Amino acid sequence: MTTVGLVGLGLTGSVIARFILEQRPDLRIVMAGAGPLSLKAGKDLGELVGLCQCDVIVSEAEEIPMELERTRPRTVIDFSNAEATLSLLSSYKSIGCGVVLGTTGFTKSQLSTLEHAANTQDFALMYAPNITRGVNVLMMIAKLVANYLPRYDIEVIERHHRRKMDSPSGTAAKIVAQLHEARGTDRTLYGRHDTTPRENGEIGVHSLRAGGIVGVHEVMFASEFDEIVITHRAESRLAFAAGAVEAAEWIASRRGFYTIEDMIRDNEPNKSIPIPAKPLRIGSRHPVVV
Ligand SMILES: NC(=O)c1ccc[n+]([C@@H]2O[C@H](COP(=O)([O-])OP(=O)(O)OC[C@H]3O[C@@H](n4cnc5c(N)ncnc54)[C@H](OP(=O)(O)O)[C@@H]3O)[C@@H](O)[C@H]2O)c1
Repeated sequence: MTTVGLVGLGLTGSVIARFILEQRPDLRIVMAGAGPLSLKAGKDLGELVGLCQCDVIVSEAEEIPMELERTRPRTVIDFSNAEATLSLLSSYKSIGCGVVLGTTGFTKSQLSTLEHAANTQDFALMYAPNITRGVNVLMMIAKLVANYLPRYDIEVIERHHRRKMDSPSGTAAKIVAQLHEARGTDRTLYGRHDTTPRENGEIGVHSLRAGGIVGVHEVMFASEFDEIVITHRAESRLAFAAGAVEAAEWIASRRGFYTIEDMIRDNEPNKSIPIPAKPLRIGSRHPVVV
């Protein structure tokens, strides 16, 4: 039975906890950690998410390293914040678990630190700024379209709930980076409030924040005569929970740094589908399956 630790019990972490407790009796949550001075600390996790007792008492942030050492989960699902994740990195290394990192908002250098740690130490980390399989397949398709329609203008539009802290979303940023890489371009324009026309090769990114929108990402390719729009819409946070659990099971027995794309490629039933080749990461150790 795969044992799971949960770090971050906010909007997403709570739905993941409830999903596992209700729908995955084959997984066992062994610890759950909340934020500093959180009112959730000391409560039973099951009761906290509206179910019956599950005998996992939620820890306060300071106690998380100790709880990780005590319970040694095989995988940890982390939906907290960048600062919290970085402070837990040494605990993740120390217990040698597989970490599914849904948390976003890392700087480039923080991401390099995470990647380097997972590639050189005895644990695994999957960086998944969008955990749903659907949106990752959207990215793969978008790269294909970018290659097949090199002269089409690209605009990326993302919509999220009014409380979201980072704009553009981590997913939109990743889509744009991958499209630039596919096209060999680098100019990104955030929003338009200008009197000049768009430049060739630039990618426009537009972030909308309103109400309770769970998450929508749209990639538009347009020529003078036609357009293609690829849309992914998360209808409920359960989409994140299902993705996080699939990733947790996949990462449990691995070592190294991965993305969701690695998992999708690994599970691909028909290897002949022309997914664009993954660029080699210079200096990274080849991940090892244990
Ligand atoms: N990858 C994806 O697909 C995806 C999907 C949704 C969200 N996200 C990302 O996941 C993160 C969480 O999102 P959310 O919507 O669930 O936000 P949220 O509701 O604000 O939850 C974040 C939680 O982190 C907890 N936290 C703060 N400091 C902590 C610490 N030191 N140790 C442990 N927990 C700590 C807070 O706990 P308390 O409430 O107890 O203070 C808070 O509830 C964000 O970075 C978000 O962008 C990613």
